[in-house]
Amino acid sequence: MKNIVLTGFMGTGKTSVGREISRLTGFPFFDTDSLIEKRANLSIGEIFQQQGEPHFRQLEREILRELSPLLGVVIATGGGALLEPENLSIVDRNGLIFCLTADLETILERIGDSPNRPLLPQVKTLYKERELLYQKLPHLVDTSPSTPEETALKILEIYEKECKGENLGKRIYDADPD
Ligand code: S3P
Repeated sequence: MKNIVLTGFMGTGKTSVGREISRLTGFPFFDTDSLIEKRANLSIGEIFQQQGEPHFRQLEREILRELSPLLGVVIATGGGALLEPENLSIVDRNGLIFCLTADLETILERIGDSPNRPLLPQVKTLYKERELLYQKLPHLVDTSPSTPEETALKILEIYEKECKGENLGKRIYDADPD
């Protein structure tokens, strides 16, 4: 049973959609940012501030390496995690990767001024820098018009088809049920 791996820019709903998929399937849910915080005993904001981004990225790599041998789990990654080719290939072995997307306006509305997002001041620049990189990831799912439950159902529909080996012939999906 392949894992369901969620990635995408900050504010695309990875954690809430991941929890929803876990609720619907019974698959255990892992959120890499929460695991990093537990391991470091610090919040993401504090890790960036006290230990720097390279240390955060190192913890992120370690956690992904530990999670990747599992099967039949849901993994929500931090927004930058799978832009690292090594991390992408690690989770790709046992998982189907879904990259959640949303337009910048929706993202700004969703993330507000969250204190635990150290990259928030650069959000607009990062969005533009990363847009093309995210588009290269498999299974892009637009979450802008949808609730986490609608997005979760859309992902599960794709997941079931992929697990049955059906060739979908397209890689970009709109999570809107209509
Ligand atoms: C990051 C996104 C954050 C968190 C860290 C770095 C990024 O996770 O991992 O602040 O590089 O995009 P969310 O995408 O859950 O906000």
